[in-house]
Amino acid sequence: MEHGNEVLRIEHLHKEFEGNVIINDISLTVHKGEVIVVIGPSGCGKSTLLRCINALEDIQGGQILLDGVPVDRTAKNISRMREKIGMVFQSYDLFPHKTILQNVTLAPIKVQKRKKEDAEKEAVELLDRVGLADRKDDYPRQLSGGQKQRVAIVRALCMHPDILLLDEITAALDPEMVHEVLEVVLSLARSGSTMLIVTHEMAFARAVANRILFLDDGRIVEESADPKKFFACPETERAGAFLKTFDYE
Ligand SMILES: Nc1ncnc2c1ncn2[C@@H]1O[C@H](COP(=O)(O)OP(=O)(O)O)[C@@H](O)[C@H]1O
Ligand SMILES: [Mg+2]
Repeated sequence: MEHGNEVLRIEHLHKEFEGNVIINDISLTVHKGEVIVVIGPSGCGKSTLLRCINALEDIQGGQILLDGVPVDRTAKNISRMREKIGMVFQSYDLFPHKTILQNVTLAPIKVQKRKKEDAEKEAVELLDRVGLADRKDDYPRQLSGGQKQRVAIVRALCMHPDILLLDEITAALDPEMVHEVLEVVLSLARSGSTMLIVTHEMAFARAVANRILFLDDGRIVEESADPKKFFACPETERAGAFLKTFDYE
């Protein structure tokens, strides 16, 4: 088995909430530079999967390895691990009384103890990459939803994560803002970022993914390393039925 450029490995993950099995024996390996898109019906366990990876949820079985090392869920390890894993959610949760620049440099300065000038220089470069360098001194309320979500992506990138977990980051945006955020994610993918993405944007999934995982009922029902083929003719009936509910031409 190839371990060289493995970033994240999940082995037989099992997660329950109050006796209900939510993640049922999921195994998955993510290599450096891979973009894996997870799709599936609402409630099938996509968010829970990402939250387990980031230790926001406890797990009842299996293990999660970062860089080949099992994540031991002690407080110290968890904070070290969260520096390696960037997460962006549907709600961007920026601090309202801090500027954009302060929002994105807070963790690098406080948690990673980086020099303020260095953190700010890099933050401005990253803000520039998402078209927002000129908004660095604004406050979140002055930005649109799409702009705030691009800031949230920059905030994650400023920590130099090994992998980014994105959970339906466009789901709460007005339709005209979805595109600008997905463009940013596409450009990250092209520049080699390693990502695990949950989305309901099927055309985007097809464009960005190296691999598609179709989840249903806490299990990987279909996995495809050929997204175009998967979206054109899925192999399982369940994936087919799910895709029929979308209009992605
Ligand atoms: N904190 C929780 N307590 C109990 N059940 C939960 C909790 N979080 C999620 N669930 C349940 O786990 C299942 C999967 O949820 P989720 O991972 O959010 O699905 P998805 O993101 O695919 O829509 C759902 O049935 C949901 O009700
Ligand atoms: Mg979800």
